[in-house]
Amino acid sequence: MFTRNLTIICAMGALSGALAGPALAQDDARTAAALPETLEETGERAPAKVPESSSETVGDIAPADNDYGIGQPATEDEIAAIDIDVMPDGRGLPEGSGTYAEGEELYETICAACHGSDMMGISELGAPQLIGGRGTLASDKPVKTVESYWPYASTFFDYTHRAMPMTTPGSLTTDEVYAISAYVLGKAGITGTEPDAMLDAASMATVEMPNADGFVEDPRPDVGE
Ligand code: HEC
Repeated sequence: MFTRNLTIICAMGALSGALAGPALAQDDARTAAALPETLEETGERAPAKVPESSSETVGDIAPADNDYGIGQPATEDEIAAIDIDVMPDGRGLPEGSGTYAEGEELYETICAACHGSDMMGISELGAPQLIGGRGTLASDKPVKTVESYWPYASTFFDYTHRAMPMTTPGSLTTDEVYAISAYVLGKAGITGTEPDAMLDAASMATVEMPNADGFVEDPRPDVGE
């Protein structure tokens, strides 16, 4: 019944151009041939076909076709400024160095307000404890810190360089980050606490963290490669 009614309406439309659609009739440039194909069951115009994969067409798009007149190629300096990632084995550690004594001064000035002079963190500020907690991970109350949890020293460098201090991330020089690393890892009992105990790219890559073996490989086949 419903189908029959539809057919009648369509037939009427076809008979009278004026009834079928005044907007279409008035617009000479818009011919029926230019419209998408008609769906057989409903008589409605089908929307344009969407390509199944953008990769089918993307190769045909010349960059010049997408020139919107905004943006510019990144300069080498701009790329270098954000190309700061450091890998677990120390790849990417930049030139520079810093000592425990230098780090102590920097830590007190820049970090202690949030993480505490004793590095026990200030929970009201959301700033975590940085040292201690070693051996607690398998207990009922695991205390996860750089000392107890982080498997690689280079991650401390990368994280601090990239994300700290919270209010002005990216403001520390590489020498300052080496110095602060020497101080924090020294306080954690991982590296030396002599004032001139020094960290640089080569020495940092050899630091063994207490929890280095505490992680297992992810067995899912799509990750971990
Ligand atoms: C203004 C407060 C503030 C200052 C200053 C600050 N931090 Fe933080 N820090 C935080 C907060 C908040 C977090 C937690 C961030 C999060 O969980 O995303 C954090 C997280 C960290 C962590 C990660 C700890 C973990 O176990 O996840 C490290 C390492 C760290 N800060 C080191 C430093 C160092 C080194 C300095 C000095 C250069 C510093 N922070 C200065 C607030 C601060």
